[in-house]
Amino acid sequence: MARTTLIAGNWKMNGRLEEAQALGRAVAVGSDAAFAAGVELLVCPPAVLIPPVAAALAGAPVKLGGQDCHAAASGAHTGDVAAEMLADAGCSYVIVGHSERRADHGEDDAVVRAKAEAAHRAGLSAIVCVGETRAERDAGRALEIISGQLAGSLPDGASAANTVVAYEPVWAIGTGLTATPADAQDVHAHIRAELRARFAGETAQAMRILYGGSMKPGNAAELLAQPDIDGGLIGGASLKAEEFLTIAGAAGA
Ligand code: PGA
Repeated sequence: MARTTLIAGNWKMNGRLEEAQALGRAVAVGSDAAFAAGVELLVCPPAVLIPPVAAALAGAPVKLGGQDCHAAASGAHTGDVAAEMLADAGCSYVIVGHSERRADHGEDDAVVRAKAEAAHRAGLSAIVCVGETRAERDAGRALEIISGQLAGSLPDGASAANTVVAYEPVWAIGTGLTATPADAQDVHAHIRAELRARFAGETAQAMRILYGGSMKPGNAAELLAQPDIDGGLIGGASLKAEEFLTIAGAAGA
């Protein structure tokens, strides 16, 4: 079964109001070509900028996502945002378990899994991030680490409709270093095998696995041509509409 390529922009904590609106508008203007090529586009702005970016995207075939959510639907959690609130703001996706959240906020697999369950409860698709550090890769432990993260972070109710896996080697994020297409494909094939071992065969076959970590116009085509790379989770290059749309163009080529 063919998987729809997903090109997702993770804006992280970047952009003030005017920049975010301008970026949203520029992505919207260029989005028809990606849509026509069958590529799904997603942008994940900082939480408070979701409503103005939603307005900037109005009518364009670009989906909206949050960068994180709390596991609870409401309550005494100062500073947090519920998955339901993201849904109310027009989001259809939320990233959970990004390595920056795991590192900066001490989120472990159990927390990530609870957040993915919250996303499902709110009707959102969870983009569940996994990936090894440089030291873990150098020690030959990359696949073992990723297996553990998948086992701990993916809820039992994960399906191709409500979950996307993002493989983001920590050493490649924001560093300009990228996994080679062959190395990335090896990990993606491993992730697909793990999905097959845990879920129904059709689920494993249909669930999308994104690559993230310094994906840019110059390396996107080769990465996206790999059989188990179903899209990209793009940080730095998603802050420039032209680069983001060029990557989407490489996906549709
Ligand atoms: P990068 O970030 O493209 O800037 O490496 C990717 C990510 O962290 O999602």
